[in-house]
Amino acid sequence: MTDAFRGSVAIVTGGTSGIGLGLCEELLRRGAYVYVVGSRESSVAKAREQFSRYPNARYAVVDVKENAAVEKVVGDCVAEFGRLDYMFNNAGISQSFPYERATLEVWKDMIDTNLWGVIYGVNAALGVMKGQGSGQIVNTSSFAALFCTPYQPVYATTKSAVIALTRSLRYEYEPQNIIFTVICPGNVATPIFQGEIPPDAITVDEAVRIILDGVSKKELMIVFPEYYANLYEMCKDPAVSDKAMKMHAAEKREHFRQSPE
Ligand SMILES: NC(=O)c1ccc[n+]([C@@H]2O[C@H](COP(=O)([O-])OP(=O)(O)OC[C@H]3O[C@@H](n4cnc5c(N)ncnc54)[C@H](OP(=O)(O)O)[C@@H]3O)[C@@H](O)[C@H]2O)c1
Repeated sequence: MTDAFRGSVAIVTGGTSGIGLGLCEELLRRGAYVYVVGSRESSVAKAREQFSRYPNARYAVVDVKENAAVEKVVGDCVAEFGRLDYMFNNAGISQSFPYERATLEVWKDMIDTNLWGVIYGVNAALGVMKGQGSGQIVNTSSFAALFCTPYQPVYATTKSAVIALTRSLRYEYEPQNIIFTVICPGNVATPIFQGEIPPDAITVDEAVRIILDGVSKKELMIVFPEYYANLYEMCKDPAVSDKAMKMHAAEKREHFRQSPE
């Protein structure tokens, strides 16, 4: 069977760390041309070193909060390859804290990164994909959006919007052969946790395998790992959801009582 990704052209934002870094490596290994995108010179330089054996890798320093920068990397990609097959809008930031710490600056930074960053990526990729009559846009949300996780209201709000945007556009652009997919990971062991990896976290390799499998099948929502997919199904029952949310909130309340900072 031919690999859907071989010879394809992809951009991965947040490609310098965690899930995005893993996605870049696997796509490169499978023979895709990949733009590895990070926000900092240093993280992009590190990825360049790590992927030095892949002549099919390209690199860009792009702050996804800047529309012009996102448009530029898409433009550079099309100038070189003449097309864009996969746009992974994966860059994101996360925080968990009691709501009183959610200053307007925190709100703005998270909305700019997690939501505007995705909107800019969607718009720039759509401009190319409409012209070529094909393409797949893969936006990273989170299980936190499906669960509306207590003590993560800002993050859950931005990631819920990413689901809404993706689901809505999927059905608008289906007739134009442009596929929209949204990823909703549970815990994956990455630097996003700043060293405090949750015990139930799966590895990046496992996450990448699940994501690329779902992307190649053109799935709408990729919810994983299995435990979270099952929890998502169970929480469609309001009584189960209410109980699960109360339990999670109680755990978090205790956590922040013990370590207030
Ligand atoms: N890990 C999990 O358990 C988990 C669960 C659910 C959802 N997610 C989502 O999955 C995505 C990847 O998360 P991760 O765990 O792999 O995180 P990570 O290891 O912290 O990586 C985040 C990536 O995003 C990039 N980034 C952050 N701000 C940016 C900006 N303004 N412009 C461009 N790039 C920016 C970072 O690049 P630089 O280092 O160059 O700044 C880095 O490459 C995020 O959207 C996250 O919300 C993760």
